[in-house]
Amino acid sequence: MPRPLRLRSYAKVNLGLEVLAAREDGYHDLRTLFQTIDLHDDLVLRPRPRGVVVRCDHPLVPTDGTNLAARAAESLRAWAGVDQGVEIVVNKRIPVGGGLGGGSSNAATTLLGLDRLWKLGLPWGDLHRLACRLGADVPYFLLGGTALGLGRGDEVYPLRRQLRGHVVIADPGVFVSTARVFSRIDARLTPRMNSNSIFYFVSRELEGASAYRSLVNDLEEAALEEAPALREQAGRIRDVLRREGARHAALSGSGSSFFGLFGGARAARRAVAALEAEGVCALVARTLTLDEYRGPWARSRAR
Ligand code: C5P
Repeated sequence: MPRPLRLRSYAKVNLGLEVLAAREDGYHDLRTLFQTIDLHDDLVLRPRPRGVVVRCDHPLVPTDGTNLAARAAESLRAWAGVDQGVEIVVNKRIPVGGGLGGGSSNAATTLLGLDRLWKLGLPWGDLHRLACRLGADVPYFLLGGTALGLGRGDEVYPLRRQLRGHVVIADPGVFVSTARVFSRIDARLTPRMNSNSIFYFVSRELEGASAYRSLVNDLEEAALEEAPALREQAGRIRDVLRREGARHAALSGSGSSFFGLFGGARAARRAVAALEAEGVCALVARTLTLDEYRGPWARSRAR
């Protein structure tokens, strides 16, 4: 039996997110700017003779066949005709239902990890196809770093210029369902094909406060309607982040986590202290570039 693999499964924030239109497959076309951060869950992939088993220490994470990491393992087994099994142990640190992509990240990390554990060496296109079937955010987590997401968010384009900085995550402790936020948005959706705030930001090479000001999250109003408890905290959180010097402060994805971007670690730590003084759970993370995220995987493939 191969030795267990211990992996980090990182979180993301959406620096901006524009919803363009509803699609026939029940999803929405969007433009988003993804950014991985070094906040992570710990994953252990432990070989077993057969069957996929998940263990997780978080009460809101299912450990049956609906778990996204379990589905990733099953889909890879079927695709590659593997009959070995695996035990997946998830130690959760990424807030659940927080718009930080924890479940999608666990699934992508499981795909990459099992490809290595089972010595499959699958082509990139196969991993991407499997990831797309698991969820709209899963393909992004095969790459990480600063990247543009188009289509359902699953057409991923890494940016030449990678963002570096500190990110404060404010976790209001509210679970928000992504599907419900998107369905609220349908009622109010006006085509935004010509909106170009994300393209503007990318063309500015991620520089300057005015570029950040152009970023929007079209899901925010629907998320605040969906979770009134979040609305109570949203204004306060944003005020604190701005007051403490955030270059950009926004809801991540469909929420409920807010984030602030800071140039320096000291200002970010002050913002965490200020949020905690207001009774909001907060932490500091660092952005992860494409190279930092992909490095360990690229090196293991070259071996
Ligand atoms: O793909 P994932 O399961 O993470 O998405 C959760 C839900 O969010 C989908 O079932 C869909 O209702 C909604 N969604 C969407 N358009 C996207 C991404 C997600 O409508 N581009």
